[in-house]
Amino acid sequence: MRRIKLSPSALSCDFAAAGGQIRQAEEGGAEYLHLDVMDGVFVPNISFGQPVVKSLRKCTDLVFDVHLMITEPIRYIEDFAKAGADIITVHYEACSDVEATLLKIRACGKKCGISVKPGTPAEVLVPYLPICDLVLVMTVEPGFGGQKFMADMLPKVRFLRDYAETHGLNCEISVDGGVSASNAALCTLAGANVLVAGSSVLGKADVKKAAEELLAAAEMRGARNE
Ligand code: DX5
Ligand code: ZN
Repeated sequence: MRRIKLSPSALSCDFAAAGGQIRQAEEGGAEYLHLDVMDGVFVPNISFGQPVVKSLRKCTDLVFDVHLMITEPIRYIEDFAKAGADIITVHYEACSDVEATLLKIRACGKKCGISVKPGTPAEVLVPYLPICDLVLVMTVEPGFGGQKFMADMLPKVRFLRDYAETHGLNCEISVDGGVSASNAALCTLAGANVLVAGSSVLGKADVKKAAEELLAAAEMRGARNE
């Protein structure tokens, strides 16, 4: 079975205690840290920018999975690369030149990802898959944590996984929004191998246990049984 990676979203942290919470997520098996950057234009919310990414970089070695929900992200790729991003994901809908944006991420020496909002079909991504390291399927409308998982997005995940396998492409497939222990197995069965989770991991009192339970559910085994 494909190895499942957990990418807890820092949006659900208590930022005054973020270092400890992130360490707990790591102890619970997280490999990535998802960082949601919102500009109040592409999405109706504002989160944080490069200074927060840079300061979190000092407290963990997790892979930084930066999700840019900003208009024309090409303008800020270098800044996020310098701040410590490992993977930079941009939205198809936010770029006037998607290919140039992805190539800019590559030119900065980082892995690149592309994401679609729920209303955008996965097929639009086909031309870009050969140059992408990761595809992120939104399972809520981007902008806020704590929303309800949209199971009707799973066929997009299946389509992308089948397409990648048929064409020998090695991109990771990530789901983001409302992911929890109750739907994690649906996501991995559809072909996702990276699970982004905010409220169900860093939003919980026992972050380590929440991370372990989510990974166990995703891999369809009992928590702490292996
Ligand atoms: C939403 C963000 C998500 C969010 C997920 O726009 O992209 O990464 O933090 O939070 P939950 O898991 O609470 O839906
Ligand atoms: Zn996100």
